Amino acid sequence: MKKTVRDIDLAGKKVIERCDFNVPMKNGVITDDTRIRASLPTIRYILEHGASLILMSHLGRPKGEPKPEFSLAPVAKRLSELLAQEVLFVPSPEVVDSKVEKAASELKPGQVLLLENVRYVAGETKNDPVFAKKLASLGEIFVQDAFGTSHRAHSSTAGIGEYLPTVSGFLVEKEVQFLDEAVNHPKRPFVGILGGAKVGDKIDVIENLLDKVDTLLIGGGMAYTFFKAQGKEIGTSILDADSVSLAAGLLKKAEEKGVKMLLPVDIVTADRFAEDADCEIYPWDKMPKDRMGMDIGPETRKLYRDVILEAETVVWNGPMGVFEMPRFAEGTKAVAQAMADCKGTTIIGGGDSAAAVHQFGLGDKISHISTGGGASLEFLEGKELPGISVIEDL
Ligand code: 3PG
Repeated sequence: MKKTVRDIDLAGKKVIERCDFNVPMKNGVITDDTRIRASLPTIRYILEHGASLILMSHLGRPKGEPKPEFSLAPVAKRLSELLAQEVLFVPSPEVVDSKVEKAASELKPGQVLLLENVRYVAGETKNDPVFAKKLASLGEIFVQDAFGTSHRAHSSTAGIGEYLPTVSGFLVEKEVQFLDEAVNHPKRPFVGILGGAKVGDKIDVIENLLDKVDTLLIGGGMAYTFFKAQGKEIGTSILDADSVSLAAGLLKKAEEKGVKMLLPVDIVTADRFAEDADCEIYPWDKMPKDRMGMDIGPETRKLYRDVILEAETVVWNGPMGVFEMPRFAEGTKAVAQAMADCKGTTIIGGGDSAAAVHQFGLGDKISHISTGGGASLEFLEGKELPGISVIEDL
């Protein structure tokens, strides 16, 4: 068990908190504020308990240089609106300079200051202790609530913990509780669903989940690498050529462990990669040479739905097809709907599958949608996350 903001005295303290405000933006306008909203319970709790609060985050990858398109100014504005109070923002290219230090020291209980993008400083992503110390000097307690960045060992996520008492916020607490419970103490049947383009990207997750799940459902582009490993025709479908033998090894491992590893039984194919392509459905082992797989077919959708409905725990990462094109979104939609209808605990590991569930309007029917794509993936791989390890044990 890790310490949380509940376990410390906040009254009159200066708290520095890492959030993940890495939100999608278009022309300086935030297009999805989910991550900002997800940080509100901790922020409100800290302010209500009499502390002053200095917030920090990264946005995008400015590569150690101040670049205006990566400024957190729009986040300060949105956060002010959501909190219904002013969020001070001192736009320093060095993130911490004398103006910022003055603003931080003058902060009164209940007030909030947001620092500029921590990745404006080259030391941040190198976990430079000098930068970590500079950030730490602004506060007396470090609160880690940036689950989405907890797989990065950076100055503001991990290094800073060397210099301050460190506790988690409610978002990190909730994310870890859901993922840990599912992966390490699942109610059974435990079903994993993996999709996405490349087997190579998900090898470690598949390896780890094969030790834990009862059934693993495979969809998306990675299915064709598994078909290839079984010597089948995959036409012009996406192939992760470097991972064919790995895929064969994973199928063997599943068999040895008695894990049911299900692959699509039918495929929605197209004559080219386009929304208006000519579309036909084929059994998985009857794919013509000149067609590409774009989605799981109707038989697979039924099969996967039945497995999901029987599950007590389901974890899903990666879409079942090219869901950005509505004609090839049916497989992903069917899995999302089955997750929504499942009575067990349902967890979505961020990224594309989270976007898909929101797109289908099913977000509130899922037990937990992670705010961290990369972080939840590394958690599912069984890795230790530096931004979690830094939090003190209770
Ligand atoms: C994310 O969006 O996955 C996190 O904010 C981490 O961002 P990064 O991949 O640039 O470290």
